[in-house]
Formats: sequence, C-alpha cells, structure tokens
Amino acid sequence: MWSSRIAFIAAATGSAVGLGNIWRFPYITSENGGGAFVLIYLACIALVGLPIMYAEIVIGRRGRMSPINSLRELSTTSNASRNWAFIGVIGIMAGFMILSFYSVVAGWTLHYGFHYFKEWIGVGAPITDPGATFGALLGNAGELTFWHGLFMLMTVGVVGFGVEKGLERAVSVLMPVLMVLLLVLLGYGMNTGHFQEAVGFLFKPDWSQVSGSMFVTALGQAFFTLSLGMCAIMTYGAYLPANVNIPRVGVAVAGADTFVALVAGLAIFPIIIANNIDPGSGGAGLIFTSLPLAFAEMPFGIFYGMLFFVLLSVAAWTSSISLMEPATAYLVESTNLSRKAAALIVAGLSWLLGLASVFSFNLWSEVKIIGRSPMDAIDYVATQIMLPVGGLLIALFAGWVLSSKITREELDEKMPNWAYQAWLWITRVVTPALILVVLGGILNIF
Ligand code: PHE
Repeated sequence: MWSSRIAFIAAATGSAVGLGNIWRFPYITSENGGGAFVLIYLACIALVGLPIMYAEIVIGRRGRMSPINSLRELSTTSNASRNWAFIGVIGIMAGFMILSFYSVVAGWTLHYGFHYFKEWIGVGAPITDPGATFGALLGNAGELTFWHGLFMLMTVGVVGFGVEKGLERAVSVLMPVLMVLLLVLLGYGMNTGHFQEAVGFLFKPDWSQVSGSMFVTALGQAFFTLSLGMCAIMTYGAYLPANVNIPRVGVAVAGADTFVALVAGLAIFPIIIANNIDPGSGGAGLIFTSLPLAFAEMPFGIFYGMLFFVLLSVAAWTSSISLMEPATAYLVESTNLSRKAAALIVAGLSWLLGLASVFSFNLWSEVKIIGRSPMDAIDYVATQIMLPVGGLLIALFAGWVLSSKITREELDEKMPNWAYQAWLWITRVVTPALILVVLGGILNIF
C-alpha cells in the first residue's frame, strides 16, 4: 500500500509526466498546426481522460490485484462475463509496444545528457549545428541501440530487481527540479521577444486547419500523456488506501500532467520561432534540434543542458516502469517465472521490437508500414488505436458493468452527488461516444 495519498499522487504523476509531455506534445502540436489541436487535446483530457482516470483507479482499488485478475474478479461479482479481463490483455500489448519506442527516445535523451556532460568537463565538442548533430545520432544504429539498451536495463533494474524505494525518494526531489528547469526555460522563452507569437501559435485556433486525423491524434495523446487505456493507472490504483478521495487525486494527477505539457510548449515554441524554425515543421527531433540553440546562448547553458536531459531521462524512467509493470505482473501471476525472469523477458522482447524503431532512421529508412516509418507505425497502432479501444472498454466496464453501488461507494461519498451523476453519465455515454466517433473516423465509417 502507498503510505499515503501523496505517495500515490507521486507515483501516478511519475507515470504520467514523461516524454509524452516534453517530447511528444510539442512535436505533434507542431505537426498539427498549434491552437486548434491544443484545444481539442484539452477537451479530450477533460471529457475522456479524467473520467477514465477515475474509472481505472476505481477498478484498481476495488480489485486490489493485477489488472487482468481485478477485472475478472469484478466481473464475476457483478454477474458479467469474465471476458472483460481481455481489457488487461490489450493493455499489456499496448504497454509493451509503447515501451519499445519509448526506450529508444529515452535513449536519445540519455545520449544528450551524456553529450553535455562531456562538454561540461571539457572533453566534448559543442553542438554548433543541432540539426546536423541530431541527424548524425539518428544515422548511427549502433549508438542508438546502445542507449536504447541502457535505458531498458535501467527499467528492468527497477521493475525486476525492486529498487523502488531508492528511486521513489530520488524522484520526489528530482521531479520538482525538472519543473524548475522548465520554468527557467519558460523565462528564457519569454525574453526571446517571440513569446506572444508562441502563445498565439499554441492557443489561437485556426479552425480551417481542423481535420479528422487531428482528433485521432489529440485523443491518442490524451491517453498517452495520462498513461491511460493500458491499465497502468489501474495497477497503481490497486495500492491506494480505501479512504483516499479518488476524484481529488485524479484531478491532481491530470492537472499536473497538463500543466507540465503546457509549460513545455510555452518554453519551446518561443525558442523555435526566435531561431526562424517553422513552428509547424514538427518531427520527432523537435526538442533535440531546438533546445540546444537555447543552451548554446544561455549563461551556464552547457550545465543547464546536461541537467535538463538527465532529468528528462529520469522522468522517462518513472514512466517506462509503469509501461513495463502490467506485462511483468501478468507473467509472474500466470506462470511460475520469478519476477526477475519475467521482467527480463518483457524487457528483452521489448528491446528487440525497439530495434525496428532504431532502424527507422538508418538501415530501414525506406521501409514503410501503413504509410509510416516502423517507429511511427508502432506508435500509431498502440497510441492511436489500442489505448482508445482499451479506454472505451474501461469506460463501458466502469459505467455499465460495475454495479453502481460500487462506483457510488468509491466516488459518491467523496464528491457532491451531481458530480457523481455527471461522471457516471459522461463515462457511460459521452466518453464512449466520443471515442467511437474518433475511432470510426480512422476506419472511415463516418
Ligand atoms: N504517460 C507517459 C508519458 O507521457 C507515457 C506512458 C503511457 C506511461 C502509457 C505509461 C502508460 O511519457
């Protein structure tokens, strides 16, 4: 059990805040033209993300087991089909796929942290042309594989060998420091003289740009950034003490996550605009090609860059742990593997699949799967399809299958009755309808 409410908020926020906020949010916002996309994303957080976050925590806390077994148990006590446990299977597969490329990108951040460290102690060359530096890294399959492997080992170290205690303590100090760094970067951005433009880009919607794919991307990002739809938050919910107020902790986690993403966006886009980079140019390298421009100019920029990328790696680490946990827990429960062996198997397979993402930028740069590079294809299927499908089923399960006596006990006593009723009907009708419409758009049904 988490010692307290704060411990749960810290763990869940550690899962939620990561590359999704600081790497993925800025680059897909850039690719989707800014304002309109950001507003659709915020609507997805409120209307889909938050209700599903409540649902996952309720299911986890009621079931008190790993997702598949919690779902099985709760469907039995609700006289429903045990097949609802399949939600857990989708979650395990989605987490496994996301972990594969997440670790590759976390490897980039480790590499940048190490690069600035070398520069700081005077043995590395400065980054003069960030685009070229990033391109050279992507071209080097061996180097990418190494950092990807190192990051995966760091994740196994925690999931399989149980060094949570130390990490928990370290993280509660390091994450606030990362936040301070982002705020300083925001201050730097405000001084570039291009802050207004960046705010306009991020928040002034150009509705003419809106397209169906924008909804799909925004919905996927809402799931990805809040760690929803794959039973990660459900897993953590299983350890939440019974007296903790779920509505309140849910809002705290979702609020903190959204705050970090918006601050990251507000910090990065002024730098992009000030350096005459097209804010709509996008690409997965966006933060790696733009932030070094700021670090090159700022006082103590080298030290600052080192700190930033090291702490971003730590944020990614706390997220990857929660990506790996469901699959590992499942193997431990359903086979006679030890926890170490299970974690090593999950990590090994995920590392192998990650090679497809590594090669997307070099050996296989010509390969296209469903019209995308291998990395984008894995990201697309897991984030844009599997997480929303998982979320849809979680909402239906919590809204219709779970007896309202249970959800009432878990939520109603902690919030005004009208708010509970609002949650219930949003979860029953609004959230599933929105997800179905967006997913239907992918299949060209509408
Ligand atoms: N939410 C994490 C991030 O934004 C990624 C993640 C997704 C973690 C799904 C767990 C489950 O970086």
